[in-house]
Amino acid sequence: MPLSIETSLNREQLIGWLREENPARLAQLWQWADHLRQIHVGGEVHLRGLIEISNYCVRLCAYCGLRAPNTELVRYRMSFDEILACARKAAALGYGTVVLQSGEDPGLTTQFITEVIQAIKQELGLAITLSLGEREEDELWTWRQAGADRYLLRFETSQPELYARYHPPRPGKTSDRIALLRRLREMGYEVGSGVMIGLPGQTYGDLADDLLLFRELDLDMIGVGPYIAHPRTPLADPAFCRVVPAEEQVPASELMTYKVIALSRILCPRANIPSTTALATLNRKNGRELGLVRGANVVMPNLTPPHYRIHYEIYPNKACIQETAEACHTCLRARIESIGRHVGQGPGASPNYRWRT
Ligand code: 5AD
Ligand code: FES
Repeated sequence: MPLSIETSLNREQLIGWLREENPARLAQLWQWADHLRQIHVGGEVHLRGLIEISNYCVRLCAYCGLRAPNTELVRYRMSFDEILACARKAAALGYGTVVLQSGEDPGLTTQFITEVIQAIKQELGLAITLSLGEREEDELWTWRQAGADRYLLRFETSQPELYARYHPPRPGKTSDRIALLRRLREMGYEVGSGVMIGLPGQTYGDLADDLLLFRELDLDMIGVGPYIAHPRTPLADPAFCRVVPAEEQVPASELMTYKVIALSRILCPRANIPSTTALATLNRKNGRELGLVRGANVVMPNLTPPHYRIHYEIYPNKACIQETAEACHTCLRARIESIGRHVGQGPGASPNYRWRT
């Protein structure tokens, strides 16, 4: 198949690619995605300084180590001054964006986050991405007005039964992340979402539907990574997992992650797509680089102080959990340069967002 700048793939074609094992065909897929990446978002790799501001979480997501009932996890919530110190480090290292990420933590009040946003904007002028879970619409709007630029909320799976089984709702509330993503877009946020690859019970058809939903939502940012079992979660118990025929179950593999990154680039060519920590966890040697040459154009160096970082244990053996901000910075720069790419300057908004707004 010749290199194509066509970006329409139907469900059947997507399933075909997800099942593809032929190395020569896969090489074509990587080349196609890399080509589109170069045309639409260029050779720059944008760095996003990740600050994991709290690991408290009120939710019960069946796969996640931060889930409320995990009493073995030491909980922390960073102070205003600690968060600002990390943001200053981001600016000093030349990053144009900070990502404030946490569990779903009501202890991070509307007012507190508003003050953090205003302080970062006033003092440093960085782009701000929030990734704080499913929050109320009025607070999302307050934060947008305070200067937040972007919001990340993975919908995790588009398969309703699988979603419901692994995401018990909060008492008296429903959970509709897809509706919330549409609201965020209306509020003027640059919107990011994504899924886990290889969740127990996820079929090839489900994953193809996830990819089609990325395009339908016209996402500005797409983050995907392999599911990694955490022993202190219900999903570690096979009895809890949704079971599908073995030939239908998507493997939570490194290769499958590259396929999904590449197909995301093909379907949403102007989106910003990170090469994620979960991928680096499966292949510490060069997972990040392979993500970057198969469709990705963003990496998220971790700025969380090491004594907190070790407690942000969403899944076990997480890459970078022992490193300092400086170590991740140096490491990622070297990795980017090793593949002949260069570090992007400025806020690095998604061309998709610039195009639609
Ligand atoms: N394995 C891989 N990724 C996970 N996440 C949560 N738990 C796991 C796990 N066990 C992902 C979810 C969430 C993001 C912050 O981390 O997709 O949105
Ligand atoms: Fe953290 Fe390489 S990115 S050590």
